Amino acid sequence: MVDVNDAIEAVYVVTAAFFILGLHRMSHPTTARSGIVWAGCAMFAAVAITFLTPELFANGFTNLGLMGLGIALGGGLGYLAAVRVAMTDMPQMVAIYNGMGGGAAAAIAAIALLAGVGTGEASLAVTGGLIGAVSFAGSLIAFLKLQGWMRQKPITYPGQQPTNLLVLALALAFGVLLLWRPLALPFPGGSYLPAFFLFALGFGFLMTLPIGGADMPVVISMYNALTGLAVGLDGFALTNYAMVVGGVIVGAAGTLLTVVMARAMNRSISNVLFGAFGATEEASGAVQGTMKSIDAEDAAVLLAYANKVVIAPGYGMAVAQAQHKVKELMDQLEAKGVQVKFAIHPVAGRMPGHMNVLLAEAGVPYDHLNDRDEINPEFASSDVVVVIGANDVVNPAARRQGSPLYGMPILDVDAAKNVLVLKRGQGRGFAGVENDLFYNENARMVYGDAQETVGKIVQALKKL
Ligand code: TAP
Repeated sequence: MVDVNDAIEAVYVVTAAFFILGLHRMSHPTTARSGIVWAGCAMFAAVAITFLTPELFANGFTNLGLMGLGIALGGGLGYLAAVRVAMTDMPQMVAIYNGMGGGAAAAIAAIALLAGVGTGEASLAVTGGLIGAVSFAGSLIAFLKLQGWMRQKPITYPGQQPTNLLVLALALAFGVLLLWRPLALPFPGGSYLPAFFLFALGFGFLMTLPIGGADMPVVISMYNALTGLAVGLDGFALTNYAMVVGGVIVGAAGTLLTVVMARAMNRSISNVLFGAFGATEEASGAVQGTMKSIDAEDAAVLLAYANKVVIAPGYGMAVAQAQHKVKELMDQLEAKGVQVKFAIHPVAGRMPGHMNVLLAEAGVPYDHLNDRDEINPEFASSDVVVVIGANDVVNPAARRQGSPLYGMPILDVDAAKNVLVLKRGQGRGFAGVENDLFYNENARMVYGDAQETVGKIVQALKKL
């Protein structure tokens, strides 16, 4: 007879293999969707097989009923939110889901501690609980900032860092006390457990307050890594291998993503976390000259007679939800025999892969999308570059020492013969820096909401 626990372990091992294969498939846009399905099916199998755990039946079907209710509520709400969310709201959705993961990891740690596990397991649970609670609270603040329900700008005050350190020290102290004197009673009717979680949550809230809204994607990715770590530690405490492997994968992938994003923004992780970036307005740069604007019809003429056009999208394309019109623009130009390519900067938009996701949703073929290193040598031979709602990622100020953007690798669009810049007005990019490009001799501004402007250009092209 096969032991039920052995069968569960075997499914966990297969699950772990599918997590890794799924993640591997996610590394390329053409296989990414199937990678998500593979990993999702593995997750479903791991959750389903857990229902066979004999201990679940210890008090009749009460546990099963509660778990079923939890899954139905959580799954139902998650499904509804996921089908309704706008693509531009995706970062805050990821933030809140990640926060839930951190909260669940903290709750599991709390239950393990209440159940009175051994000192070794308890230290893992305390560490997992601390990290999970910090990730939960931090992700919640990230959600509120991105959703616009809280001031996006960094919230700073005197003595902020020492206060944060003190709160962290108190959380750690209560964690140590938990190990030393499990569930003793320092407060009337209480235990060290609530105090430990209170300070851990407090630290998560406080450390996220001074981080600006636009830095949130990096922070969310970091909290994602922390959630993975917390789940992995809980897995060790509970000897659950699926949790260990799943947690470690999320932890490692999240850490890499955090590093890659920070690098692409030319910032250190500590600068993102403690730099309060965007707290002050940048003084006007050393930009000289005037901006020249043209209307959509003239822009269409310029495009219609080009041989090669490169489209460089940015955050404004996402805000305007202009991706479908942009696909129409591509179709119109290709129908006229113009070669069209897309230039994708790794941090264009507000989340990793933001532009790729939107353009893929609109049906732009993957082979039209080129990353920065591929496309940069091609700008000089391009007749027109159309910058759609991008600002920082095309700002030549990044080449000028002293600029807040200095050192950030950019798309060298200014090397093209003509540059059309589609934006609503004089708004600056995320870094708040004036853009030298807009004043260049070869640049023309086409003012208006990106969706409307691209729509007008498409209409004008149809008439040409
Ligand atoms: P941004 O520098 O944020 O500039 C976006 C531009 O779009 C603005 O100048 C704005 O000008 C314009 N815009 C806004 N709404 C528009 C609309 N409806 N129609 C047309 N234009 C509109 O964008 P970017 O070049 O993509 O750079 C991204 C920035 O975000 C970088 O600094 C990057 O470091 C940062 N960041 C990115 C990430 C990730 S992972 N992608 C994470 C954190 C931070 P107007 O107001 O004049 O229209």
